[in-house]
Amino acid sequence: MPIPRSLLSRETPTDHDLRVTQGTWPAGLRGELVISAPHPATFDGPHPFFGEGMIYRLSLQPGTFGAGPDEFAWRQRRLDTPSARLRAARPDVFTPTMMGVQSPYGVVNAANTAPLPWGDRLFATWDVGRPVEVDPVSLRFLGDVGHRDEWQVFEVTPQPLLPLVMSTAHPVIDPDRDVMWTVNTFWGQLHVVRWDGQGPVRTWPIEGALIPQSVHTITQTREWLIVADCAFKVEPQVLTGGDRTEPANHDGPVYLIRKDQIEATAPGQPVPCRTFRVAPENNHYYAVYDDRDGIQVLFEHTENAELAMTQRDGDLDALGRPCDPALRGLYGFPMSPDRTSLIAFDPDSGTMTHRAELRDPQRLWTRQLNAMDWSTEGMSRPTSYHTVHQGWRPEAITQRVLALYADRVDRSLWPSEETPPLVATASRDDMAVTATYELAMDDFPTSPIFVPTDPDAPGTSRYAGSDPGGHDGWVVVPIMNDGGFRVEVFDAADVSKGPVATLSKSAMHVPFVLHSAWMPRAVPAEDRPRHRFGDELARLDELPEDLARAARQVAADLDEGVPLDA
Ligand SMILES: [Fe+2]
Repeated sequence: MPIPRSLLSRETPTDHDLRVTQGTWPAGLRGELVISAPHPATFDGPHPFFGEGMIYRLSLQPGTFGAGPDEFAWRQRRLDTPSARLRAARPDVFTPTMMGVQSPYGVVNAANTAPLPWGDRLFATWDVGRPVEVDPVSLRFLGDVGHRDEWQVFEVTPQPLLPLVMSTAHPVIDPDRDVMWTVNTFWGQLHVVRWDGQGPVRTWPIEGALIPQSVHTITQTREWLIVADCAFKVEPQVLTGGDRTEPANHDGPVYLIRKDQIEATAPGQPVPCRTFRVAPENNHYYAVYDDRDGIQVLFEHTENAELAMTQRDGDLDALGRPCDPALRGLYGFPMSPDRTSLIAFDPDSGTMTHRAELRDPQRLWTRQLNAMDWSTEGMSRPTSYHTVHQGWRPEAITQRVLALYADRVDRSLWPSEETPPLVATASRDDMAVTATYELAMDDFPTSPIFVPTDPDAPGTSRYAGSDPGGHDGWVVVPIMNDGGFRVEVFDAADVSKGPVATLSKSAMHVPFVLHSAWMPRAVPAEDRPRHRFGDELARLDELPEDLARAARQVAADLDEGVPLDA
């Protein structure tokens, strides 16, 4: 039973102060680890991915944010978005479903998937909602990105106050233009969205760019945006409690869009693209920012994993054993070994080349997430790519999912027994594994970050060290374990040496989290014009008076800064 049962605990998180319990904390390691997660007390639907958003923030230098001189502040807050406030005011009218939380107000924007730093600003994102800005210190909600009327709202049921916006949990910040690029899919049509950091969003439909499933990521080079169809499949009957009838698509389109063509086109007018197809399925992909030598994209395939289906009562696991009720709600882990590929695209000739692939069925199973150097320099010339893998986990695969994927799954690749979780480093040039470190069988590593050795070095961008790319610095890995939560720090140059320092606190547990990010510092958000929920009340008259009154109160509380939990 290696998967921690505390992973799906519904215990309300609290603040903690952690101490170094092994090794020596590196002198230069600093900044903030921020993590997005669904709030466990709102894991009340069938899928924890739809719990309301919260953020954890761990300070990487001791003695800050109220922690003692030898302690590291672990702080957390449930995001007080309009969705969360409306639900707190009228919990009786919100209904969790397999695909989100519905209400007469509309659909909850959970904002629980990824923290997105932009300089000293911090956003929280979600695939089916607008990004929201939060204060990096107080973790309070500051505003949505753009007015709802500037987005294409997927309003199949009335959404007078909470619009369902099909976007992506992974927008990108353009370092040359200082803008956010993201997407808005509407009935399968892809739109690219650009936001200057305040004011309205601007959108462009991409000619001929249809999204069969969903978009979880957008990535960029200096001149191009790249958007791929992602393997989170939503069939209509699932929205009303029905079962899936088809697996996620094995391959999907990838669209390359020139930024200068967007900039030369009036918002709302179509922009052309180049279309490719990539297999197998994926959810995360990252382009090398410097495209002078061509367009290169690293694809983290999620081959035969099923993120949209979760364990439920009566399920049997991959080995035919009854699933543990403690894991109810866990999504379908990979039934095939991890596959990561490096693909070069030539938009002029329309050709693509598989430059390298990483696959090791003996060792690399269940890639969780990665740690990369997100500085402009690091994304321009990446060197190292760090990942955490949970290992082969038959208890996290149900017979229902296996039946759906049927002969797409090569069972001869399954290891004869469970394999240990790993921290791994690969070279970005050829995807060769350069170092691995085995964790304990009952560890559950998650959401690692890369921290450069000397951020803000002279002559570099804010997030870069003096030797950028991902090899010079630390890999910081939060690790869940039923015996207690801990944070391990590895030397990014050689993770195989094992952790150089460990932070922990006895009897502390952290449930399921999603993405993380590193920020060089956390300072209070600057005053600036931001979009107000109070400006989105034009359709209040569609609601019964008691619900409308609650919405007016939420708008007033947001304007006055009344805390959600007061
Ligand atoms: Fe993601």
